[in-house]
Amino acid sequence: ASGRIAAFFVAMAMALVAAAGAVRRSEFPPGFLFGAATSAYQIEGAYQEDGKGLCNWDVFTHTHPGGIMDGRNGDVADDHYHRYMGDVEILQSLGVNAYRFSISWARILPRGRLGGVNSEGIAFYNRLIDVLLQKGIEPFVTLHHFDMPHELETRFDGWLGTGIREEFAYYADVCFRAFGDRVRFWTTFNEPNLATKFQFMMGLHPPNRCSPPFGNCISGNSFREPYIAAHNIILSHAAAVRNYRENYQATQGGSIGIVIAMKWYEPLTNTTVDILAARRAQAFELEWFLDPIFFGEYPRQMRKILQSKLPTFTLEEKKLLQYKADFIGLNHYTAIFAKDCISSPCNLQTYEGNAFVLAVNERDGVKIGGDTALPGYYVVPEAMEPAIMYVNQRYRDTPVYITENGYSQWSTESREELINDIERVNYLKGYVTYLSKAIRNGANVRGYFVWTLLDNFEWTFGLSVRFGLYHVDFDTQERTPRLSARWYQEFLTGSNLTH
Ligand code: NOJ
Repeated sequence: ASGRIAAFFVAMAMALVAAAGAVRRSEFPPGFLFGAATSAYQIEGAYQEDGKGLCNWDVFTHTHPGGIMDGRNGDVADDHYHRYMGDVEILQSLGVNAYRFSISWARILPRGRLGGVNSEGIAFYNRLIDVLLQKGIEPFVTLHHFDMPHELETRFDGWLGTGIREEFAYYADVCFRAFGDRVRFWTTFNEPNLATKFQFMMGLHPPNRCSPPFGNCISGNSFREPYIAAHNIILSHAAAVRNYRENYQATQGGSIGIVIAMKWYEPLTNTTVDILAARRAQAFELEWFLDPIFFGEYPRQMRKILQSKLPTFTLEEKKLLQYKADFIGLNHYTAIFAKDCISSPCNLQTYEGNAFVLAVNERDGVKIGGDTALPGYYVVPEAMEPAIMYVNQRYRDTPVYITENGYSQWSTESREELINDIERVNYLKGYVTYLSKAIRNGANVRGYFVWTLLDNFEWTFGLSVRFGLYHVDFDTQERTPRLSARWYQEFLTGSNLTH
């Protein structure tokens, strides 16, 4: 009986969704990529199988379980390593034409370049890529999504040691050579602007180092570390792109980009200082990476505040930066108000701290948008358009892909609430609607990926927060389509989900 009640609930909810007037796939240009996104550590599991080396997250979650909200880890996660066939069938049933996933560096080079290539790791991604292509799904591949071989992290303090650049360039080369005949979309790094802050400023991600004003970390305490790590990441990106351009692109015909986490900063008031604060916050996030990649220099707002604490590029490094990127990936989830903290002081214990900007979630007592499970993530679909337009304008019309967008729920919700995720349907529908509006207004955007296909290991939140189109029962590994999966499938194919 409960099944019938659930089915009735779904039918009612679908009717409501349909009645609300819908955005259509046909409003998007032909060839536009619609997909779902995942990452290796978050879904694969099989953490010590088939020659894989331990990665930094394997070690961190085992040695410091207190660093994860529920003490969980990615040892098994979604067991995708063994269930990838079924997961690709799920993708196919949704009707996507692209799938964004990441390669586990520790599966390919368990000990970095000194230890040699793990052929079983190569074989796994070959199988995954081949089955995706058989089903007409374009692989959209991330080389680095937060995880790296533990041995390299120890040897180089993660991204702090310059030696990591050659390691990354070597790893990227192994991937281009092994998979580049079939992969047409590469990205070097996922969200380095967030990762470097979590790793080297707030001490939340391995190697868990802090910089003032944050304290209480496993190790490290230098203001400069996030900026040194970012510098090495930017140059690692550049080296991988140069290699791709010089040795692979002409024959393989793909393109290569980078993915940045981009919130939209809305000035809290229309005073000049708050307008400048919103721009400055963006400079300390997006432009921190994209300005060097596209213009060869860090943004002037960062230089002005950080001065010599921000590294500089040598002439030789600037030459390397001329290879730029073919496209920009944006992980866009939310928007926040920006308040200036130069003309009047604020409490600066926020990530925007070094930019002298305070992130504020309400104006005149009204929240910027609805809540989601993740703190600081509000539902503001109308910010999609200015975010893309800003990037198009600043980076001279370089194509943009929305590489992530999605809605989170707490695992403590009832199963009924988790599956009948009407809020996620509204979230996705809202964002896709504004995406289509942006395209009508001339935005150069070529694809959109929902984060995420399956509930998975959400970093420091462990399994406590769920973003999936599919609900996963982590005891049985059963995947159940949510209302949002049904909505996405209907949007993509114009028919109901039969899976
Ligand atoms: C960004 C990250 O790329 C992804 O790994 C994470 O799970 C989602 N956002 C949600 O926080």
